[in-house]
Amino acid sequence: MNRKVTVVGGAGNVGATVARSIAQRELADVVVVDLAETKAAGVALDIYESCPIEGSASRVVGVGTKDFSESANSDVVVITSGMPRKPGMSRDDLLNVNYKIMQDVTAEIVKYSPNCIIIPVANPLDAMSQAVFKLSQFPRERVIGMAGVLDSARMSTFIAMELGVSVENVSSFVLGGHGDTMVPLPRYTTVAGIPITELLPPDRIAAICERTANGGAEITKLVGTSAWYAPGASAALMVEAILKDQKKIMPCSVYLQGEYGVSNLFVGVPVKLGAKGMEKIIEIKLTADEQAAFNKSAGAVKELVDVIGV
Ligand code: 2OP
Repeated sequence: MNRKVTVVGGAGNVGATVARSIAQRELADVVVVDLAETKAAGVALDIYESCPIEGSASRVVGVGTKDFSESANSDVVVITSGMPRKPGMSRDDLLNVNYKIMQDVTAEIVKYSPNCIIIPVANPLDAMSQAVFKLSQFPRERVIGMAGVLDSARMSTFIAMELGVSVENVSSFVLGGHGDTMVPLPRYTTVAGIPITELLPPDRIAAICERTANGGAEITKLVGTSAWYAPGASAALMVEAILKDQKKIMPCSVYLQGEYGVSNLFVGVPVKLGAKGMEKIIEIKLTADEQAAFNKSAGAVKELVDVIGV
């Protein structure tokens, strides 16, 4: 293959899901980089061994973080490293731990793949994306956080369950930061082109929006750890849009410079994804209530960003 994607933290649940999805769909050769080098080698080999069965010619290799040179000249690098919050750990502790990880991995990514597009997946998503953006000194087009694709997918699933229709008919729209202040937009959420406001009563829509905002916590409670299938699939979808220059519009966390009335901050908005990365921010008109919810969500991201000073 002439394309290369590196997944940092690729031996973890989310990373391995991203790596597998990319290899399975033959989007690129994949380099799995992880602190746990033996596990990285094993996970990569297992995925590689699935390729003959899946009918994919992708090559997959796994290395430790000291062998970052394997990732040289990647087209896209997905960062899934990061620690989940542990009992007794404050939000600020988590922020500082993951910020340190972003510092370490971003330096290596920039050194070996100075022209790549980075997709941060680590949490807290918007703040870590901002950290990677500032540390990399890449143009804003080349650092695109994964969150809105996942949040919209969750919303679509809940709507399909509620209406008993195919998820393929549902197109959901979620803006804002990846946290409980995220802003699902029912007005722009449709089933076969019909706004859900025409199909569901306000109380059911409100319940779906709330479940969407708590979607990550719902899985964590059920499984005992954070989700990986949907987050991994979401990052892979973004990789595909970039590598195939699809010009697909997806909600992603990007560095706003005045768009939606927000400056110098990563927040989720609809963007066009193509070979150059984030090729355009799509601005839609929000109602006063939607704008207020968006501002509140941006404010929550700003608080986190201020803690780590990026
Ligand atoms: C989620 O929402 C952990 O951010 C991840 O599931």
